Amino acid sequence: MQVDGKAYRSIWFDHAQQQLNIIDQTVLPHQLRVLSLPNVDSVCYAIRSMQVRGAPLIGATAAYGMALGLKADASPAAEQRLAEQLLATRPTAVNLHWAVQRIRGVIADQPVCERAELAFTEAHLICEEDVKTCSHIGDHGLRLIESLWQEKQPLQAQLNILTHCNAGWLATVDWGTAIAPVYKAHNAGIPVHVWVDETRPRNQGAHLTAWELAHHGVPHTVICDNTGGHLMQQGMVDLCLVGSDRTTAHGDVCNKIGTYLKALAAKDNQLPFYVALPVSTIDWQMKNGLQEIPIEQRDADEVIWVQGVDKQEEFSSVRITPAESSACNYAFDVTPSRLVTGLITEAGIVNADVAGLKQLHEQIQN
Ligand code: MRU
Repeated sequence: MQVDGKAYRSIWFDHAQQQLNIIDQTVLPHQLRVLSLPNVDSVCYAIRSMQVRGAPLIGATAAYGMALGLKADASPAAEQRLAEQLLATRPTAVNLHWAVQRIRGVIADQPVCERAELAFTEAHLICEEDVKTCSHIGDHGLRLIESLWQEKQPLQAQLNILTHCNAGWLATVDWGTAIAPVYKAHNAGIPVHVWVDETRPRNQGAHLTAWELAHHGVPHTVICDNTGGHLMQQGMVDLCLVGSDRTTAHGDVCNKIGTYLKALAAKDNQLPFYVALPVSTIDWQMKNGLQEIPIEQRDADEVIWVQGVDKQEEFSSVRITPAESSACNYAFDVTPSRLVTGLITEAGIVNADVAGLKQLHEQIQN
């Protein structure tokens, strides 16, 4: 995606410098800072501290983490340690496991001296594939938006889409998942307007989705997390579109905390609630999302302290709770499949149920 006329991805390998680069998402939207990650420790820190975040990007970064670690020591014992170190960073997004496994699959039984190079090649491939995958998600989602827009015009001047967290290009390598269809629709001349949930406590909506949309010129409005239900009741939302960190084989969707409440409100207002995801986000082993998906709990300080810039544009952190109050910080929740209208994947749109996932599974096998 373009930022001030320059093309960026959220992660890229600079072949000339032999350097892995990321956009540091902890300082956006106030600063566009590029960081280099020289080794697996810096990769783990970047994932844990959310300098990189979003399920597909976590996967891509972890793949490079494996490659960087293998460059230092490619022995089988080191490989095991690297995998464990990376998998311990964040528990919910299944893409992390998927990417680490993919690298391990490629280097298995290969000579030790070739393993790092093979891992780098696979990590580059994961990134290239992610860009294509997300673009295809965008194409399928575009068709959905086109047909909704045909129903709504000429009664409405714009199509209102509500999204939660950041499922834009910053959460992937490029394009995004839930926001890819929005970019494609905007590019195709459909007057989309996005309601951006601020997404407490880390404010990925206010910080990241709003920044992305602003740079692409997509009309949007940031709203408090509690506003969506009211907007839906007032007929001010036509479509809810979110991403996923893990989707079960029965169609339950785990996404940023608060997603479930939006899905409930959408159901109560008979509004379509779609989830956009790459197939790599599906955990085919899991059936019941509520019982089986590990939900990350993060530091309570993320709830207690709010980050931003002051009027002089200096970074600042302010406490918003009494000093004696404790807080808890569940990072994700599970939306049961019965609340999901459909899953938008790179292979097409399917129902969020056993039959839909089975159909998708068969489709990607062929
Ligand atoms: O905690 P985060 O910021 O990594 O959570 C990200 C989300 O919940 C996204 O909606 C999800 O990864 C899907 S984005 C492609």
